[in-house]
Amino acid sequence: MAIDIQEEYSEQIQRDGAIKFVGSNNRTQFNEMGKEHFDYLIHKKLKPHHVFLDVGCGGLRTGQYIIEYLNNNNYFGLDRMPELIEFGLNNVLSAETVFEKQPKFSVNNNFNCDFVDKPVDVAWCQSLISHLSIKQTKRCLKNIKNKMALNGDIYFTYFQMDGLEREIAQKQKSNSKKDLYYSKETMDEIVKECGLKKIYNGIVGHPRGQWMYICKV
Ligand SMILES: C[S@@+](CC[C@H](N)C(=O)[O-])C[C@H]1O[C@@H](n2cnc3c(N)ncnc32)[C@H](O)[C@@H]1O
Repeated sequence: MAIDIQEEYSEQIQRDGAIKFVGSNNRTQFNEMGKEHFDYLIHKKLKPHHVFLDVGCGGLRTGQYIIEYLNNNNYFGLDRMPELIEFGLNNVLSAETVFEKQPKFSVNNNFNCDFVDKPVDVAWCQSLISHLSIKQTKRCLKNIKNKMALNGDIYFTYFQMDGLEREIAQKQKSNSKKDLYYSKETMDEIVKECGLKKIYNGIVGHPRGQWMYICKV
């Protein structure tokens, strides 16, 4: 089943391109959205010396601005689709930036963060958990948690639906091409069950109405 999905996603990327796969209509919008994420993180006091983990980094929509801004060797990106990371490295970042900043990447679909060799100050999952089941969300958050610096923050976006019961949400299966919904309360429970503390769970002006969750160890 997992292999089928991998193949299906590969075909979609080949057919529609990396930009459409991650949810932008064109390169201009891809850049604008990435810049909005970056501006939000700067507003949240992201600093060049911070270590940044971008889970579901895709084609580096956000990564392009973060990598430029951070000190060398401080960006770590993870995605299940190698085609997207290749797109980011070849078409989004300049060769000079790749050479100078030395971003590190891992391709896997089980949120294995072993490649991250420094405590993470900011972990970022943009439009990732909005497509993950509860089981996958927990695996993702727990693996990230193991890599966080003492005072680090985890940010993730998700689709919130008032009153949606956990039993119903529990039946949803991960799929990058489907929007999965969770109530605010269910997401609070999931975060707590992962041993993380809530900082914020609410609206953030996302273009498709996703909510932002901020939590820490
Ligand atoms: C909607 S895209 C967002 C990409 C990026 N965060 C951005 O804002 O441009 C979701 C990304 O999550 C990745 N993804 C989905 N499930 C994953 C999994 N199980 N492991 C790793 N990456 C996954 C997809 O390949 C895709 O790149």
